[in-house]
Amino acid sequence: MIRLCVLGTGGMANAHAREFKKIKDVKIVACCDIRREAAAKFAETHGIPAVYADLGKMLDKEKPDAVTNVTIDAAHCLTSLEIIKRKIHVLCEKPLATNAGDAWKMVAAAKKARVINMVNFSYRGSCALQKVSEIVRKGTIGEIRHVEASYLQSWLSSADWGIWHKKPGMLWRCCKKAGSKGDLGDIGVHIFDFMTFVCGDIRKLDCRLKTFDKGIGTDKINGMKLDANDSFCALVEFKNGAIGTIHSSRWATGHANSLRLRVFGTEGAVCIDLDKSWGEYEICAGEKDKTAFKWKTVKAPKTPNIYQRFIRSIRTGKNDLPDFATAAKVQDYLDSCFKSDDTGKTIKI
Ligand SMILES: NC(=O)c1ccc[n+]([C@@H]2O[C@H](COP(=O)([O-])OP(=O)(O)OC[C@H]3O[C@@H](n4cnc5c(N)ncnc54)[C@H](O)[C@@H]3O)[C@@H](O)[C@H]2O)c1
Repeated sequence: MIRLCVLGTGGMANAHAREFKKIKDVKIVACCDIRREAAAKFAETHGIPAVYADLGKMLDKEKPDAVTNVTIDAAHCLTSLEIIKRKIHVLCEKPLATNAGDAWKMVAAAKKARVINMVNFSYRGSCALQKVSEIVRKGTIGEIRHVEASYLQSWLSSADWGIWHKKPGMLWRCCKKAGSKGDLGDIGVHIFDFMTFVCGDIRKLDCRLKTFDKGIGTDKINGMKLDANDSFCALVEFKNGAIGTIHSSRWATGHANSLRLRVFGTEGAVCIDLDKSWGEYEICAGEKDKTAFKWKTVKAPKTPNIYQRFIRSIRTGKNDLPDFATAAKVQDYLDSCFKSDDTGKTIKI
């Protein structure tokens, strides 16, 4: 039996509780939130026996095997270090930290403590993504030349997810002081991982970030300045020489939550569109006569999601990916995006 604690009991923690409860021989023994009443409600919803408002107390009393860290972005580093210090395995939400320095500190601490460390880049749970990464790395579409990746949401321009400025869970996402790195840190982090998982590391990039007027007659709510970025566009060059564009926005009307990746190589192309399917990808390759290239839709074999991979890693002692180091590398890209936007220059990674 693996004894698991949930840290941070806001919106996303519900997905963690639901997924972990589906796994055999995993028991959620306690949950903790600095807002005790939120933790109590969460415990009631998910049938969790113990509730805490203090992380240290929970860890010392419950002595869990693992913690899933679903706190706000700004709390990931300190809370994870607190968990790792006690040699407890940790699955941390993305972004791993709010800057690369902290992220690499977390990598070093986890390595030293020899604990399983993973990051919830949840879209790695798409079996289409897993298969496409394998196909591209195997060389089925030849050498990569050109890449296009996007992650589009629309909660600032439509009410897909309710009225954003009335939801505390959306407000901190708009405020730098609350530790948010805006759209780039929130969903840009996913698409950077998604793209590099398939196409490999980036060697340089150029980025523009934008924070727009929200059209609600104020730029401050409950003391929170709405100053974090809402949209970004970046031009990247991969270590393998290919180039690509990557962008995301909270203003993409008509797209509640859309991720798409297209990779074009010398011998073909692949496309994943999670709006269409999590389990199918499109491929245009493999014909002898290139004039006859046609897109085909292919079903990918089933693969485990991150929650299952995390538990499997604890059981086998073999740390699966994406681990803290994967996420710290993505954090290097995010920091480079901010630097590029600040200086107007191309940044070498
Ligand atoms: N992987 C994904 O697809 C995905 C999706 C949504 C959110 N997220 C990430 O999950 C995390 C939580 O997002 P959310 O939407 O649930 O936010 P939320 O604001 O709804 O919940 C965060 C909770 O953390 C609590 N908290 C803050 N600091 C804490 C601390 N030091 N100790 C204990 N609790 C603390 C807050 O009180 C709140 O209840 C964020 O990092 C977010 O980026 C990931």
